[in-house]
Amino acid sequence: MSTVPQNGKRLLRALAGECLEMPPIWLMRQAGRYLPEYRALRARSGSFLELCLTPTLAAEVTLQPIRRYGFDGAILFSDILVVPYGLTQPVAFREGEGPVLDRLIGVADLQRLNRLGFRERVAPVGETVRLVRRALPDDVALIGFAGSPWTVATYMIEGGSSRDFGRVKRWLYRDPAGFAALIDILVDATTEYLDWQVEMGAEVIQLFESWAGVLAAPAFERWVIEPNARIVQRLRERNPTIPVILFPRGAGANYLAASEAVRTAGLGLDTTVPLDWARQVLQPRHALQGNLDPQVLVVGGDALATEVARIRSALAGGPYIFNLGHGVLPETPPEHVAELVRLTRT
Ligand code: CP3
Repeated sequence: MSTVPQNGKRLLRALAGECLEMPPIWLMRQAGRYLPEYRALRARSGSFLELCLTPTLAAEVTLQPIRRYGFDGAILFSDILVVPYGLTQPVAFREGEGPVLDRLIGVADLQRLNRLGFRERVAPVGETVRLVRRALPDDVALIGFAGSPWTVATYMIEGGSSRDFGRVKRWLYRDPAGFAALIDILVDATTEYLDWQVEMGAEVIQLFESWAGVLAAPAFERWVIEPNARIVQRLRERNPTIPVILFPRGAGANYLAASEAVRTAGLGLDTTVPLDWARQVLQPRHALQGNLDPQVLVVGGDALATEVARIRSALAGGPYIFNLGHGVLPETPPEHVAELVRLTRT
């Protein structure tokens, strides 16, 4: 974190280690159901997956929150489950139910995943990246993303969201070699997918490890740290300057091991991470990102002002990026988001 450029996009400056008085801001799930213009467009488009795979519409949705709020970063509008789709696993999103996948039951099912043609099946996402990059204001950085292998594997094996991760955990304990074969497929596909997003114009990459918080420490080491480290290393071999943000949500004390082993420019903090500890232990190694509780953004008012001030004063001594500790909730009043942006720019 020695390069300290004095100009350029604020999000990239923070990721390069610069300490900015007013932190750059973007929000996970900044495009989505809390925005009336998203709901209107969604009602006119087909399925959610079709929306993700229609570049003109996905680009428009990516730009909606940029126009409304002037965030410092635009996150590509897509979903982490585009990768299983690209590997030919059937994926659908059902209203009120979330994602539904034709689940993998055992190692024999890995043969049903097809790496051939992966690039062609996810090609519309690359086109979205290109369209957004062309349309973005000069001071806004484009963030590409993918789910991390462990998190994506949970959906592929559970067949959707899960409460206890029973199926995927039983698989990895019963048959670690078979599970490793799935993780290897995901490491390869994810690296190719991200490499291509960078080629098409992504300037930052975020890895969403949303279910980092459900594994025992040795399993965390093997199935969270190791695959993410491989992706970051390979991505860097091909794109030496690309800043990566790892978001190992819920990792708790395992944040330390993740920070030591996966040397990303940015580290995303979930809402529970104590900021004094993060400042002392993690901030010397990364630009930190986070970690406002999304429920505080639903509440707004004094609670929002108090929490924003607390987070800013805790992290202001080093590089950081203002964000939530998880995604914007659908019930969030859009005017609270405008107020949040204002609070970070005074
Ligand atoms: O952040 C953004 O604005 C970019 C778009 C984005 C979406 N999903 C759009 C989306 C991103 C970065 C994601 C990531 C994602 N998708 C994650 C990791 C982050 C996290 O939330 O932990 C995960 C686990 C998924 C899988 C997923 N997609 C689930 C579980 C669901 C259903 C729950 C829900 O919120 O509806 C989705 C659907 C989804 N992805 C929607 C959006 C806007 C809602 C679908 C709709 O509009 O009908």
